[in-house]
Amino acid sequence: MRNILITGGAGFIGGHVVRLMVQKYPDYRIYNLDKLTYAGNLENIADVSALPNYRFLHGDICDVEYVNRIFNEYSFEGVIHLAAESHVDRSISDPLAFAKTNILGTINLLDAFKSLWKGQWENKLFYHISTDEVYGSLGESGLFTEDTPYDPNSPYSASKASSDHFVRAYGETYGLPYIISNCSNNYGPNQFPEKLIPLCIHNIEQNEPLPIYGDGQYTRDWLFVIDHAMAIDQIFHKGEVGETYNVGGHNEWQNIDLVRLMCEMMDRKLGRKQGHSAALIHFVTDRPGHDKRYAIDATKIDKTLGWKPILTFEKGLDQTIDWYLNHKEWLTNVTSGAYRQYYNKQYQAQ
Ligand code: NAD
Ligand code: TYD
Repeated sequence: MRNILITGGAGFIGGHVVRLMVQKYPDYRIYNLDKLTYAGNLENIADVSALPNYRFLHGDICDVEYVNRIFNEYSFEGVIHLAAESHVDRSISDPLAFAKTNILGTINLLDAFKSLWKGQWENKLFYHISTDEVYGSLGESGLFTEDTPYDPNSPYSASKASSDHFVRAYGETYGLPYIISNCSNNYGPNQFPEKLIPLCIHNIEQNEPLPIYGDGQYTRDWLFVIDHAMAIDQIFHKGEVGETYNVGGHNEWQNIDLVRLMCEMMDRKLGRKQGHSAALIHFVTDRPGHDKRYAIDATKIDKTLGWKPILTFEKGLDQTIDWYLNHKEWLTNVTSGAYRQYYNKQYQAQ
């Protein structure tokens, strides 16, 4: 049995990673460390929570005493670190929260891993999950490769870039075995509805305005979350220590085109007249420091590990919309209370 720690496993991507690992590797004991912030929801992984090789640990990655205690108690050989504050708009209103969790929390985990193994690194791995946003913004052409210089523009991407640097620094300085992957925008079931795709699905269903920042001509490279979870599995098991892997969907969409596509698909599904939902599109004040375009060159992970995204965007989006339409209770639960207050503040008077 190997004891593996997954952080942030009650969140969007972490939940899919926990499910995959618990089901695929009965010989691993998977420990899911999550603080259960507004973005963490144990409902996301309820279907695997009773399996004997799964255990939930409720705690904060920034809590030095707690993190050291669990590392000593369970001797984690592998760490897959996803816990983070993850929403750019929230990072603009509260950068310090992002610095604390994303930077200090990561350092705390690195320290606990280092103190536990004291240089006995054989078969050990600290795998840090990061974002393509660390590379900054692309112009009309070009793709992010693993060699693109870091140039983060938002407090979120600056905090993720900093955590990536600390992980590399622990590798260089202490020999700590690490891998980092930088992925493009994910979408799929269980994503918190503050992010563009679930926010629009929810608002279309509710006949509420669809807030598009600026002129809507910002481009993102969308990847289905289960394809990302499979990439994480490949990288964790076959990736080379000290390497970075870019993960992406080869699937660029301007926001406005993507939202129009969702409107058409949902009008069909909800039996509404074509054009009904597109009338909800509402251009609002742009996000400050808004990155124009992200797009990933995923050649390295394809050539070295044989990973490619499997699901087409049409199928992935179709499944995602169906999931939200069939899980209204999940949406109602996560969009009540504190989320309502955030939503009103973020989009007030627009
Ligand atoms: P998410 O916001 O849905 O989930 C984050 C999880 O971390 C939640 O369960 C939350 O409770 C937990 N968490 C937050 N602070 C914590 C703390 N101090 N201690 C313990 N747990 C804490 O995020 P996500 O979209 O699933 O992203 C997961 C990771 O993947 C992040 O590191 C993010 O930077 C990275 N990433 C996300 C995307 C994307 O499109 N969502 C793309 C590339 C990389
Ligand atoms: P988001 O889902 O927040 O991901 P990220 O900022 O990490 O790329 O946003 C995706 C794109 O959609 C981004 O260009 C910002 C834009 N957007 C809107 O136009 N309106 C919104 O209400 C939100 C949340 C995002």
